[in-house]
Amino acid sequence: MPPDIAPIDREQSTARAELDRLWERGCAFLGSEVAIMGGAMSWVSERHLVAAISNAGGFGVIACGSMGPDLLAAEIAGTQALTSRPFGVNLITMHPQLDALIRICLDAKVGHIVLAGGIPPGTAVRAVKDGGAKLIAFTPALVLAKRLIRSGVDALVIEGSEAGGHIGPVSLMVLAQEILPYIRDVPVFVAGGLGHGEAILALLEMGASGAQLGTLFAAASESVAHPRFKQAFIRAAARDALPSVQLDERFPVIPVRGLVNEGVKRFLRFQAETRDRFQSGELSKEAAQLAIEHFWAGALRRAVIDGDIEQGSVMAGQSVGMVTAEKPTAVIIAEIVGQAVAALAKRERVATC
Ligand SMILES: Cc1cc2nc3c(=O)[nH]c(=O)nc-3n(C[C@H](O)[C@H](O)[C@H](O)COP(=O)(O)O)c2cc1C
Repeated sequence: MPPDIAPIDREQSTARAELDRLWERGCAFLGSEVAIMGGAMSWVSERHLVAAISNAGGFGVIACGSMGPDLLAAEIAGTQALTSRPFGVNLITMHPQLDALIRICLDAKVGHIVLAGGIPPGTAVRAVKDGGAKLIAFTPALVLAKRLIRSGVDALVIEGSEAGGHIGPVSLMVLAQEILPYIRDVPVFVAGGLGHGEAILALLEMGASGAQLGTLFAAASESVAHPRFKQAFIRAAARDALPSVQLDERFPVIPVRGLVNEGVKRFLRFQAETRDRFQSGELSKEAAQLAIEHFWAGALRRAVIDGDIEQGSVMAGQSVGMVTAEKPTAVIIAEIVGQAVAALAKRERVATC
């Protein structure tokens, strides 16, 4: 090493090289500088945030949510106008126009399609693959991971119950132990509750190829979320982001993690009232279930766009406790990289002592 390089710089560049080695596969798959994906968030992950994440070296993902083909086409074109770097599109498998949405992505030359919200149907998998895009899917268990790989999926996301939005029952810590050591055929990205580079580093060392973060980016400067939504994130602690509660097993509620507010408390009362109306014969079981399912319709938009953080759905992961200020996306990514590099450099220092 030339003598004009200070030991501290040498330590940093060795550490950065090690981090780049650890997530090399994820970066190569995504075509990004760092293997940090911006998890798609309905209403939040639109052109500005997605382009900002990709421009900062990460990999942004548009949340299609309930958009139809025309709106999605406009969002993709808008994003392409803001970045020349790769980004993906997240489609919900139960969207009634899934096939048309896939076609829109392929026509627009989107390189990566994420199919979320359930096991992707075979027709959708084939359409994405035949169209030349890379397919990313979520897996809640090892057996499903293997089945998805056999069906042609190119990468997997394992998302722990710490995450914001719709969640499964198992934490990332357990999913990582159950899945990472056994999946080598495709890159696996980890998600849920991540906010610090050292934790991401540990997961990379366990075999992950990269990480997906949502909550931290929702509060970024480039996020279109209402200032009150971002302030709620900045104020909240991890324990404030709880899964929705199901009152009666006869009326299933899909668990969603978000900040507890008046709307969450009203939902509990609404479930009790609806169950009582069913028990008194006033409502059929189907009508009661439908009423419960409809309770949150439009509620995420009300919170994110209108700033109604009391009655709206303020979806957030437990990582919300690590949101301390509204920061530019590039700063959020630089901090995460810096934390991972610092952790590696510290080890190097200890080893050479
Ligand atoms: C406000 C919000 C909306 C979300 N919407 C979606 C969505 O539309 N589709 C999806 O696949 N995941 C959605 N997610 C999950 C994220 O993509 C990501 O996996 C998750 O936020 C990761 O956990 P973290 O929030 O702890 O970083 C959402 C999360 C949040 C916080």
